[in-house]
Amino acid sequence: MSVIAVGSFLPPPPPYRRIKPRFTTMVSLRSDAVSVAETSSILRKLKEECATPLPVLRQVADAMSADMRAGLAAAHGLPMIPSFVEDLPTGNEKGLFYALDLGGTNFRVLRVQLGGKDERVVATDFDQVSIPPQLMSATCEELFDFIALGLAKLAAKDDDRLNLSPGKKGEIGFTFSFPVRQTSIDSGILVKWTKGFAVSGAAGRDVVACLNEAMERQGLDMRVSALVNDAVATLAGAEYWDNDVAVAIILGTGTNACYVEQIDAIPKLQGHVSSSGKMIISTEWGAFSKRLPLTEFDRAMDAASINPGEQIFEKTISGMYLGEIVRLVLLEMAATGELFGKSIPENLYTPFILGTPDLCAMQQDNSGDLQGVGSLLYDKARVESTFSARKTVLEVCDTIVKRGGSLAGAGIVGILQKMEEDSKGVIFGKRTVVAIDGGLYENYPQYRTYMQDSVKELIGSEKSNNLVIEHSKDGSGIGAALLAASNSMYKHDF
Ligand code: BGC
Repeated sequence: MSVIAVGSFLPPPPPYRRIKPRFTTMVSLRSDAVSVAETSSILRKLKEECATPLPVLRQVADAMSADMRAGLAAAHGLPMIPSFVEDLPTGNEKGLFYALDLGGTNFRVLRVQLGGKDERVVATDFDQVSIPPQLMSATCEELFDFIALGLAKLAAKDDDRLNLSPGKKGEIGFTFSFPVRQTSIDSGILVKWTKGFAVSGAAGRDVVACLNEAMERQGLDMRVSALVNDAVATLAGAEYWDNDVAVAIILGTGTNACYVEQIDAIPKLQGHVSSSGKMIISTEWGAFSKRLPLTEFDRAMDAASINPGEQIFEKTISGMYLGEIVRLVLLEMAATGELFGKSIPENLYTPFILGTPDLCAMQQDNSGDLQGVGSLLYDKARVESTFSARKTVLEVCDTIVKRGGSLAGAGIVGILQKMEEDSKGVIFGKRTVVAIDGGLYENYPQYRTYMQDSVKELIGSEKSNNLVIEHSKDGSGIGAALLAASNSMYKHDF
């Protein structure tokens, strides 16, 4: 069932500062000839700085592998968060389970009736709402009350297909898609917010305790059986249908990757006893920052963000930020006086006025005169554009989207090569599936193609034959419910 709407990677409007282009005051002094040269030189420089030739992609992939190892040793490098998910779903899971999903643009609540090996997913029901922007900077109580209320509403809905066994508490798989330091499968401390969230009083707290308190306020007698990241839930959900899934990636408002790691390859978990000998690790690769081809526009966006210096990979490749980078480039170009005429369109000063779905819509315009691009620019920036300006805008979009998709591909290869190095043949010697979810991947064909091309370029066509990159649609909802089932408090035979 599809619950991801087109445009679900629309960035929410976070509290960003307005940035003035450097050349604003010089606009009126420039002649057209000078301005044209300037616009094209801004474009040329942008393309040079954003370029992702093979050596750059290789360096990024290698640095990603190295940062994963460092993070597993807890020295430095990536967060590499142990998920405490040690067993993937078997297919035998049975019963009614809930999944809550808070992480980006939308909040989802799901009810799933699992029917075991033969019947699998018997029935589902869900509600989805966009997260009200004011909630992103509300208090911890307000945010968790909103979640508990959504859960209460779904739980109160009658549906004959979805039944809790008498005497049993509703059990929840809680997908919370922010960096959380897990202490067990059903508890974890929020390290920090990402993706424009700035909810007060939550960082440093156990998010399951926050949810339990909110459920109590709602009079809901339910229990969180599993706290999971969206990438982890996606891996579980995708592996339920296909045992070759080894890695899961989220490419939406934000980004993350997770994979199945051997317990003895996790020095920071020394002494941890695990029956399966494995654990899913959430890399939190959005925090990666090495060897990335960055520009002054990226630095300006980062500086104006609510988390400067953090989540640099995320800010370069994920849906929340691509539109904003393009806006900053266009603002600089507009300041030359050529792109949109002598004055800078006022709307272009508004942070996040251009969303990644807008770039996507413009890049699908196949009309001879780029009329679609023209109308979108008019709608968003209130600006009339010439054909040549529209072409320039498209080139800017393509440059930023190509860099994002290609770097995401390099990141995927970084993970695969780390796994392959540890155990020869485990990845490239057989069929291996990378499951991907998120609105950016789902809805942006150019981004997807750039990502796939970059993976292929890096690993070569022979190894690519064994590699399947698959869209796992709503894998995380079912995945969270499955993990709630495998960690159920009730005796079960699966
Ligand atoms: C968060 C991750 C999450 C990812 C995708 C990032 O901003 O830090 O925990 O998995 O977004 O939703």
